[in-house]
Amino acid sequence: MSQRRALAIHGGAGSFARESFTAERWAAYDAGLRAALVAGFGRLDRGGSALDAVEAAVRVLEDEPLFNAGRGAVFSHDGINELDAAIMDGASRAAGAVAALRHVRNPVSLARLVMERSPHVLLVGTGAEEFALEHDVPLCPRAWFHTDARYAQLLRARAGDGSVADQLDYFGTVGAVALDGAGNLAAATSTGGMTNKRWGRIGDSPIIGAGTYAANDSCAVSATGHGEYLLRATVARDVAARMEYRGESVTAAARAVIGERLTNLGGEGGLIALSRDGEFAVAYNTRAMFRGVIDSDGRLETGLFSD
Ligand code: GLY
Repeated sequence: MSQRRALAIHGGAGSFARESFTAERWAAYDAGLRAALVAGFGRLDRGGSALDAVEAAVRVLEDEPLFNAGRGAVFSHDGINELDAAIMDGASRAAGAVAALRHVRNPVSLARLVMERSPHVLLVGTGAEEFALEHDVPLCPRAWFHTDARYAQLLRARAGDGSVADQLDYFGTVGAVALDGAGNLAAATSTGGMTNKRWGRIGDSPIIGAGTYAANDSCAVSATGHGEYLLRATVARDVAARMEYRGESVTAAARAVIGERLTNLGGEGGLIALSRDGEFAVAYNTRAMFRGVIDSDGRLETGLFSD
């Protein structure tokens, strides 16, 4: 191994009150975050690539019902889970993405197949699911994604009673960024989008440069929050561009993009980013953001609020 290895993840940003988030609730999220960190970093430890690490970490978060991706994703207005994901290789800038999936258990892995086994970057809906079948990815029943908690959120949102507590109930999203022993970066993001969305609505997560971006000469980024704003602020690419053109550190670039660019546009959300020398940055303009980081220097941390 030539250099430092690192993996960072997020599980969504939101503005719930600290008092409303019990220790017991945090323990459940913390366990999910740690399982993803261990799975992803295990790949790096065994000599796997940054791509392997982000895919492995995101798959764990997709299978964990607490997070808004894969199983436990939010529902569209019509009561259907529609899933989006993307992955990007910082070494080659190859990228793959999928959107509006209804029957694929791990969208991040299908995004990787699009990147590696098709000449395209983004496949959507039935075209993406047909591609999955052609590559021996089994489709699963829609019931796999259903959780009662998310369905209750949809019913509250549809009723417009204002009791959907915070943006996390609406948005969420999971993501990972990694640096491997060969010095390569990768990013991946996966989401169910936003509660009560119109079917066919696609947010920032599967759009390269908006919710997901990686380039070895700057950084790897995965974003979360209100997709309509993150799309227009092109947040992920903007962090990389500030590093590339202005020579900013990843921390300064991430703070400026969320604290100025996204905030000035009126959007709420956050991002994680990892530079080519392993500097980890997290920035969000919500009250809280689920995140975690693990590296070959022995760091293993998870967090939610600012301190
Ligand atoms: N950030 C996820 C979405 O808005 O779809």
